[in-house]
Amino acid sequence: MTRGRFITLEGIDGAGKSTHVPALQAAIAARGCTVVATREPGGTPLGEKLRELLLHEPMTADAETLLMFAARQEHVATVVRPALERGDWVLCDRFTDATYAYQGGGKAVDPARLDALAGWVHGDCHPDLTLLFDVPLAVSRARLASAQAAGRVLDRFELERDAFAERVRETYLARAAAEPRRFRIVDSTQPPAAVEAQLRAWIAELS
Ligand SMILES: Nc1ncnc2c1ncn2[C@@H]1O[C@H](COP(=O)(O)OP(=O)(O)OP(=O)(O)O)[C@@H](O)[C@H]1O
Ligand SMILES: [Mg+2]
Repeated sequence: MTRGRFITLEGIDGAGKSTHVPALQAAIAARGCTVVATREPGGTPLGEKLRELLLHEPMTADAETLLMFAARQEHVATVVRPALERGDWVLCDRFTDATYAYQGGGKAVDPARLDALAGWVHGDCHPDLTLLFDVPLAVSRARLASAQAAGRVLDRFELERDAFAERVRETYLARAAAEPRRFRIVDSTQPPAAVEAQLRAWIAELS
């Protein structure tokens, strides 16, 4: 059995990741592959409980980092790795790049600590492809404002100051520049149909 492909979606809040999950699922299914769509933090019953705490409960940056990796350990062990071993493709809305971006870039947690935790938790399980949805901060803020007007409650990360979100975006872009073979950066200021066409092309060409 050939191992499936592990695809992650990354980008600042409101960049358009979740919006494009259905189109990505369809593009993977069009290749004849089974797709498991999941998210972090979350993806398991324990992970979803930790997600609620992580998004809404005040805590230190170190506690936040450790809870992210606790949720990730269980998610990788019980969902991601078994799916890949079955030959399924895994589409994960945020993964470890988000921890480097938010807790590392945003909150100054030492990246060496993140390296150690990532090695422990999923040393042998890395994304094959990471889709970075990139938008300037002003676009992200405008999208979040309309979502909020429509009733969405913003979480702890979405309520952070602009300087925080700028550091998160810069960290994502630096990681993409450092690993150009794994990352694809999509200009998510384009209309959704254009974003979707680009994503479909990348899924189609993935070996
Ligand atoms: N290309 C686009 N053009 C215009 N609006 C968009 C586009 N993509 C997404 N949106 C809108 O922006 C808002 C945020 O999108 P979405 O929830 O997909 O972002 P996200 O990256 O998943 O954010 P979060 O990290 O907060 O989960 C939604 O209201 C969505 O409809
Ligand atoms: Mg989302």
